[in-house]
Amino acid sequence: MKVMMYMKNVLRQRLHLEPEHGWLNDPNGLCFFGGKYHVYFQYSPESAYGDGDKCWGHWQGSDLVHWEFTGTALRPDCPDDRSGVYSGCGFVKDSLLNLFYTGNVKEDGDHDYVTSGRGANVIRVTTPDGVNMSAKHTLLKNSDYPDFCSCHVRDPKVWEENGAYRMVLGARTLDDKGCVLFYRSDDLENWSYDYMMTVPDFGYMWECPDVIDLNGKRFLSISPQGLAHGAYEHQNVYSSGYFRYDDTLHDFEEWDYGFDFYAPQSFTAPDGRTILIGWMGIGDIPYSNPTAELGWQHCLTIPRELTLSQDGSIYQRPVREINSLKQIPVNFADGEKIVSQLPFYLASFAECERFSLVIEGILVMSLSDGVFTLKFTDENAGGGRTVRRVKLENFTGIEIIADMSSLEIYLSGGEKVMSTRFYPRETAAAITAHGISGSIYPLKEMEVR
Ligand code: FRU
Repeated sequence: MKVMMYMKNVLRQRLHLEPEHGWLNDPNGLCFFGGKYHVYFQYSPESAYGDGDKCWGHWQGSDLVHWEFTGTALRPDCPDDRSGVYSGCGFVKDSLLNLFYTGNVKEDGDHDYVTSGRGANVIRVTTPDGVNMSAKHTLLKNSDYPDFCSCHVRDPKVWEENGAYRMVLGARTLDDKGCVLFYRSDDLENWSYDYMMTVPDFGYMWECPDVIDLNGKRFLSISPQGLAHGAYEHQNVYSSGYFRYDDTLHDFEEWDYGFDFYAPQSFTAPDGRTILIGWMGIGDIPYSNPTAELGWQHCLTIPRELTLSQDGSIYQRPVREINSLKQIPVNFADGEKIVSQLPFYLASFAECERFSLVIEGILVMSLSDGVFTLKFTDENAGGGRTVRRVKLENFTGIEIIADMSSLEIYLSGGEKVMSTRFYPRETAAAITAHGISGSIYPLKEMEVR
């Protein structure tokens, strides 16, 4: 692919958090604390390809559309995290923000780093302001994990329940099964193993677990690796989604059916909303992102508000704060071609069984026979991305947030979502509609200082 034809200002996102330079992966430590939202993330400041030190970067802001980048918040600078400050969470207690993360340690020597050679330490740090960090304190080491675990144990998520603190960790067993481990504590410092959960034939590793409660129903979100790929499910190299979680884990549903979504984490906003943010990227993908040649790679998704639907599944919608960025809409009718500046929000709530929307002649979104398809017709513009599909029993509308180099497509009120990067050559996009009408709202840029 000829990457140098791309200009920085064409691809630089205006509505999505992405680093100025370097590499981003998982969102970490999401919380509302001290009057601000805090978004930490897996950050490799030295390399757009993820090489060098693996740190936590940090943005903060009061309203989800104005942000300040405060720089590198945690770096691998102690023996217990010397090979990387891996993923983790934020937990607010008594005017302190507690950050729990995995200190990754790779020993020198002849190791497979699955059964030997890797230390996976749960480390706690506290901060009074999200920026200035206490000393690091290791809470759990490999010897604290059950004997059936390999060295892959990571990504703590902590919450409080019935007067006790709980932690869930993702893990890989010695016989290559993904699972989650649950720990308990009375003081956030001393943790004891409680129980594990798994599901037969569901991958070799579960990363980034999260327990989500919505209207009295409990869910376990995981990012499993090693699932078999199908035409309509688990189409990407790694998946992410949630189980219904009662006595067992059952009825897994994927969070997102597009090309670029992984390792999401949830948190509770001050008004009680449950908000999910994902990495709009995945590790080990067979497609590329031309921003890397320009010095940075990957962004987070737009924060998504989660609600429980009547059928017991989770619906996702872009947070309502995005509405403050909307400008005067332009309507489009069946058969029309209109040009809009990027970024924009497109909405159509007409029920129909068949339609197509073509963006810039490079990307076709279409519904037919109960299947919604996202297809790149220009391989360059997709960086090698091809086609993704999702089954939709009952189409009730489509909403799209198109940023400079990404699309998030919310189908049927957020019942299904698809996210993808795309790489147009202009800062405006032509949209052709067949069998569908709706409105396009140009969006103002969010502020990131
Ligand atoms: C998920 C993940 C986590 C790990 C982190 C390292 O993308 O592999 O399991 O903590 O990324 O960057």
